[in-house]
Amino acid sequence: MSAILAIESSCDDTSAAVIINGSMASNRVANQQIHEQYGGVVPELASRAHHENLLPVVQAALNDANIQAADLDAIAVTAGPGLMGSLIVGTSFAKGLALALNKPLLAVNHMHAHILAHFIDDPKPKFPFLCLTVSGGHTQLVLMRDYFDFEILGQTIDDAAGEAFDKAAKMLGLPYPGGPLVDKHAALGNPYAFKFPMPNMPGFDFSFSGLKTGILYFLQKQQQQQADFVVQQMNDLCASIQHTIIRILINKLILAMEAHGLSRLAIAGGVSANRGLRQALAELANQRGWELFVPDFQYCTDNAGMIAMTAHLQFERGMTAGQDLIPDPRLPLTAAVAKEDKP
Ligand code: KG4
Ligand code: ZN
Repeated sequence: MSAILAIESSCDDTSAAVIINGSMASNRVANQQIHEQYGGVVPELASRAHHENLLPVVQAALNDANIQAADLDAIAVTAGPGLMGSLIVGTSFAKGLALALNKPLLAVNHMHAHILAHFIDDPKPKFPFLCLTVSGGHTQLVLMRDYFDFEILGQTIDDAAGEAFDKAAKMLGLPYPGGPLVDKHAALGNPYAFKFPMPNMPGFDFSFSGLKTGILYFLQKQQQQQADFVVQQMNDLCASIQHTIIRILINKLILAMEAHGLSRLAIAGGVSANRGLRQALAELANQRGWELFVPDFQYCTDNAGMIAMTAHLQFERGMTAGQDLIPDPRLPLTAAVAKEDKP
């Protein structure tokens, strides 16, 4: 029997969730609109908004779960990676609450939680499986052997997939965060209308900076001939850019699946909400006879539900943190590998 309150504040969404005996009792997210006008997340404004949002969001999560703070067994919080100021707001709150209630604290790795979001709802993947984690800050191919036993097979050497979406969107004049808007326009366009460069990376690593430069030069050239080129071609541009990003991701994941003889594939992180990616992966999995796992939309983008799920698994294993917890903006995913599994 366990009831855990989880807090997520690593970037620009303030979220709180309650998990009771491994099942999600509530998951509240407050998005921060303030950043839209700046074309990206402004760290100082994010920290201040977390300050304002945190208490009402936590209260709402407790109310939804029909539980009092005093009845919680542990408090969980994202310890990194993320923005330092934002992480400090969340961890300070969680530490204070854990101290006041005299309950254990659980420190969760945000990228690990994106993967373990797959264990919230059925069907849950069996181990081993490959997880493609695609978010605004990370792009990783992770071989999951167990909850706390995994290996990063490949990752981006420059921009993350979400960043590639957001930067392309910015060049097209779309507001931040542009990923979901590219997705929307792409659904109405032709993915083969324009051809963009594909990287030539060895192994399982990704690179998106060549694509970014390719789009920039292409748009500059076209706009010299036709000033309203972007507006006229918005749907086809979005469809073609999205198609290229998806190809870059899929080429590497096929290599990794084959090299490790895997038949189960999962996607995680904000970009896994992308409909084009979901559809392409569904077709690929169907062709190859792979099992594909895609989390519910609410558990793809940043949310405390995934932190709560990870915390539940940590709590079962006695993996608690102390009041000396310090958030780490660059917390590596490998820090979440269980100690006894480390060589
Ligand atoms: O995981 P996430 O919510 O936050 C981070 O941990 O970074 O991911 C946010 C990223 C942003 O880059 C956003 O544009 C992208 O996910 N994203 C999408 C879609 N929804 C969110 N990208 C493409 N298509 C979408 N539907
Ligand atoms: Zn995230």
